[in-house]
Amino acid sequence: MNASFHMGSYDEKVFGFPVARCELRNIEQVIAAIRYAQTHAAKLIVVRCPSTETATIHHLENEGFRLMDTLIRFVGSCRLCIQRGGKSGIRVFPLRETDSTVVGQIARKSFHAYPSHLHSDPRLDRSRCDDYYERWSLHCCAEREHKREVFVAQVDGQIVGFGVTRLVSPNVLQGVLAGVMPNTNGFYTLRSLLIRSLKHALELGAGQFEISTVLNNLGMQRLCTRVGFEHRNTLHTFHRWLE
Ligand SMILES: CC(C)(COP(=O)(O)OP(=O)(O)OC[C@H]1O[C@@H](n2cnc3c(N)ncnc32)[C@H](O)[C@@H]1OP(=O)(O)O)[C@@H](O)C(=O)NCCC(=O)NCCS
Repeated sequence: MNASFHMGSYDEKVFGFPVARCELRNIEQVIAAIRYAQTHAAKLIVVRCPSTETATIHHLENEGFRLMDTLIRFVGSCRLCIQRGGKSGIRVFPLRETDSTVVGQIARKSFHAYPSHLHSDPRLDRSRCDDYYERWSLHCCAEREHKREVFVAQVDGQIVGFGVTRLVSPNVLQGVLAGVMPNTNGFYTLRSLLIRSLKHALELGAGQFEISTVLNNLGMQRLCTRVGFEHRNTLHTFHRWLE
């Protein structure tokens, strides 16, 4: 795997300082990541590394990186998962322009206290971590096009959930971000959004769907396994502060 390094565009806007984001696999790439972050005056480095790379993980620990979360990637066949997902009575449809504000509110509320690498870092302001998800969801609403779609779920006339998808290759649609209003959990809102997204994948000619979620998100994992997704791989997320 080639390493990928970039400066997080939302990070600086939300947290007020530069953050380097790196995906890597080997020890040489860790050294390059630190150099990249220093060159770009980053205050924080966020590193993702496959959980299989034990030697690199131990090197990250030796370099002062701390584990913040673990991402599990699930992949499923759209046809099979639609069959297993069953029917739901919840209405799901593509975002209308007037729905963006409520999507931002749902993102903020549903990701409040979410066990993400951001919320797990005690040095990051919690309210700004919530801002991050709100801003990200609003960006997704503003940037819809052929390859990116936002679906919303409605219960009793109210929008209570949203799901963002992105075509990452001709055969793979990715679930990018999703959230459900906390007081409406348990109505299978997310399952309904997922089934609609799987159908959307087939409409685009993509046979596979992928989703990543954090290890501590039991609801999401339960849903993925119920509808027939398979665990594909796991990545650890580490933070290191550069001051
Ligand atoms: C995770 C989340 C999307 C679930 O939404 P939801 O509409 O309540 O989910 P569903 O009703 O479709 O339930 C799916 C399954 O997860 C289970 N579940 C839901 N919340 C759960 C929780 N907190 N803990 C354990 N299981 C949970 C449900 O019981 C159901 O399992 P079942 O088929 O065995 O009954 C919602 O809690 C949320 O918005 N969380 C914060 C944001 C988030 O996690 N986004 C996804 C990031 S990948």
